[in-house]
Amino acid sequence: MTAGSSIEPVFELRDITKTYGAVRALRSVSLKLLPGEVVGLVGDNGAGKSTLSKVISGTIKPDAGEIRVDGRATVFETAVDARMAGIETVFQTLAVVPTLDIPANMYLGREEIRKGFLGKLFRLMDRGKMQRDAEEGFRKLGLKLPDLRTKVGALSGGQRQAVAIARAVLWGSKIVVLDEPTAALGVHQTEMVLSFIERLREHGVTVVFISHNMQNVLRVADRVVVMRLGQKVFEGEGASLDGARLVSLITGASEVQAAP
Ligand SMILES: Nc1ncnc2c1ncn2[C@@H]1O[C@H](COP(=O)(O)OP(=O)(O)OP(=O)(O)O)[C@@H](O)[C@H]1O
Ligand SMILES: [Mg+2]
Repeated sequence: MTAGSSIEPVFELRDITKTYGAVRALRSVSLKLLPGEVVGLVGDNGAGKSTLSKVISGTIKPDAGEIRVDGRATVFETAVDARMAGIETVFQTLAVVPTLDIPANMYLGREEIRKGFLGKLFRLMDRGKMQRDAEEGFRKLGLKLPDLRTKVGALSGGQRQAVAIARAVLWGSKIVVLDEPTAALGVHQTEMVLSFIERLREHGVTVVFISHNMQNVLRVADRVVVMRLGQKVFEGEGASLDGARLVSLITGASEVQAAP
């Protein structure tokens, strides 16, 4: 999907600031996310990408600035608030609980959200229903796992990512934030995650994809946002960029030598 100016953002950050002691991790960052677009978020180590993703996912509260969901100003007190607003975050290591099986992982944290009667219902929900729902999540992604009863700890890194991403699809998330989901993955598993990102977009989900791999970012991102020292220094359509230009934007170099 192209970023037409008439499309209303599903999510917006306005002048977000976050400091850690003397470190200004985010300096007045503004960002609009449109429905069904993949936004590549890039920048050097310490540029503020993870901090920004944590603000989006409600894990940290900014010092100043505004968060708007579907055009309405919103405050996320916790990550649960963000989930209720349809925002799922998938981290490389914290995405899943290794000692639980796949359906249990897909229901993780839902009781917190549905308090009272619905919460009780979820806890009482029979395993068969959870399994069917989990299968449905994987089917939507076109993914088959050998056995859903497998403990997630016994899955490979890419399969764990699949569980976390399928969970986002199952719960009808509007926005999925992926903070370096492919950092520890091999070629095949990286391909799998990239194709999931494309599937999420097909389902109308907005994806924020953080990665240090420029080729991967350029392959899937409709739009690329570059951060440097806590500031957003560039945003533009992925199709207008190449790896060398991105590197120069990330490092702040005005010119980059073309490869011979
Ligand atoms: N909990 C924290 N306490 C203190 N400083 C922090 C904390 N989290 C992040 N920072 C600092 O904020 C800045 C931005 O960090 P952040 O993790 O957002 O960078 P990043 O772009 O995700 O980097 P990387 O590519 O290495 O993951 C860094 O200078 C970092 O040291
Ligand atoms: Mg980071």
